Amino acid sequence: MIILGIESSCDETAVAIVEDGKRVLSNTVASQMAKHAATGGVVPEVASREHMKAILPVLRQSFEEADLMKGGQPDWSKIDAIAVTKEPGLVGSLLVGQITAQTLAFVHEKPLIEVNHIHGHMLANWLDIEDEVQFPVLILTVSGGHNELVLMRDFGQFEVLGESLDDAAGEAFDKVARLLGVGYPGGPAIEKLALHGNKEAHAFPVSDLEDYNFSFSGLKTAVLYYLQKHEERMGDPNFLADTAACFQKAVIEALVQKVLLAVDEYCPKEVHLTGGVSANKALRAAIQERAEGVTFRHPQKMSYCTDNAAMIAGAAYFLKDIAS
Ligand code: KG4
Ligand code: ZN
Repeated sequence: MIILGIESSCDETAVAIVEDGKRVLSNTVASQMAKHAATGGVVPEVASREHMKAILPVLRQSFEEADLMKGGQPDWSKIDAIAVTKEPGLVGSLLVGQITAQTLAFVHEKPLIEVNHIHGHMLANWLDIEDEVQFPVLILTVSGGHNELVLMRDFGQFEVLGESLDDAAGEAFDKVARLLGVGYPGGPAIEKLALHGNKEAHAFPVSDLEDYNFSFSGLKTAVLYYLQKHEERMGDPNFLADTAACFQKAVIEALVQKVLLAVDEYCPKEVHLTGGVSANKALRAAIQERAEGVTFRHPQKMSYCTDNAAMIAGAAYFLKDIAS
């Protein structure tokens, strides 16, 4: 079954074509990152307007990449269904994808499948794999807007064990990057900076809530106070690199501790890391090293970590018979 997916919940206009939830025929993204870098974050009004400009060119490009053109036009006869991100997200951004998907489904007489954006992230680890995922799967979804630990016993059975009570991990990366003056998006900038830093230079607090919930606002405030206290060192690249490394270490520790706790209690067969922050190599390495006796997966490509439409088309395939 070939599904065309559309994702426009935040600042990426994305269209993908995926066969049977795993085989990615195309995964096209128009990123607005450069546009939002100037403001240090996404401005919803700007994002909606950019989606309007990009959606149809990206749609066409997706057919071209998948080699599904006929007589110079997209060959809709090859598409079995259309999937679109329903929620959560910026409403003006979501609307562009929703209206486009509804119109295409109507005109081309295809079923429309609405997908929850977080479920899309959770199923990103099925993309491009040859083997079968073994349930139960423990999924840590860490992005700019979401931070959830979920036990998935089968497709569509999402048992939320815990979530962030305040900032998501990605949001903490973005905010701390702004404090360090290293730009937007913060995650990749901090990861790069941390490579040259000493992660033992300072111990930031690791949130240790008793249950499976997370909290990152205290850590963000601790970094703010630390930087204010050492204001005179803000021009020192080594100080900035050390601070980035220590902050990243604290985030990773908080995430890994909950994963290990859940592995002990629920004995999953696999542990999956998904969402924008799953691009972080230090986080991947920490889970890989410390979660023993389970298969560990992260997205096969960096482009499947951050927002993309392949994950929406993939999730639609596996969840199509289950109400979202
Ligand atoms: O999944 P995503 O594209 O959007 C949301 O659904 O929120 O995630 C974006 C988030 C941003 O906060 C970004 O800073 C973070 O993912 N991120 C990273 C890395 N790459 C992206 N965080 C840490 N390390 C990275 N390499
Ligand atoms: Zn996302």
